[in-house]
Amino acid sequence: MLPRLHYGTTAKIFHWLIVALLVVQYPIGWLMPDIHRGQQPGVGMILHISFGISILILIVLRLAWRLSHPVAPESTLPPWQRLSSELMHWMLYFLVLATTLTGWLFASFRGWSVSYFYLFPLPMLASDNAAAGKAIDGLHQAAEWTLLVFIVFHVVAAFAHMFIYRDRVMQRMLPG
Ligand code: HEM
Ligand code: HEM
Repeated sequence: MLPRLHYGTTAKIFHWLIVALLVVQYPIGWLMPDIHRGQQPGVGMILHISFGISILILIVLRLAWRLSHPVAPESTLPPWQRLSSELMHWMLYFLVLATTLTGWLFASFRGWSVSYFYLFPLPMLASDNAAAGKAIDGLHQAAEWTLLVFIVFHVVAAFAHMFIYRDRVMQRMLPG
């Protein structure tokens, strides 16, 4: 399939919807109270898990959309910027998947039963397992911080294109 030259409306909606959910998700993650073994999750954790599962569903749909609707890098970019932006974008997809899946596994190993926004019970991936939970907790934290570092680089690059290079890269992801 020939790559398109521009992102379509669907790709833009996926991009900005996931950005908005991540802006909510990080503060909830940092502010929600710690839950000790044997305790059931409170409102903060239920919201964190529900937003997290929403991000997971959206990133899987977005990835499927991206694979079936390839978009060429901006043609005016030098080769090193084309390559580094492609690499950065695939890493962002991978890291969102890694963060959401490690979070879901962690909640599963805690043996919790959690509802999606208090609407219906969420399926869990595994049963109660303290040792596995400890290991995966470290992975969720590593994934969430690595994702944040990549997001910072990505956003700095986007603004560098807007204000320093003054090219059309930022325009590609904006409405219109
Ligand atoms: C991209 C999406 C996600 C982000 C950015 C994120 C971010 C975070 C953050 C910042 C924390 C606080 C940990 C710390 O103090 O460093 C956290 C904890 C946690 N997250 Fe996520 N999370 C995401 C998705 C999920 C999902 C999908 C689930 C479960 C289905 C989940 C379950 C948890 C749990 C159970 C904790 C508590 C860990 C603990 O008590 O040590 N997260 N997350
Ligand atoms: C203020 C925040 C952000 C701005 C200004 C921004 C800007 C952009 C721009 C301009 C592009 C198009 C780049 C190009 O044409 O080569 C893009 C693509 C992309 N952005 Fe962001 N972004 C932001 C936040 C995020 C966040 C938080 C994520 C995390 C998941 C993300 C993930 C991606 C991905 C995966 C692509 C590549 C899309 C594809 O090719 O499928 N962005 N972004």
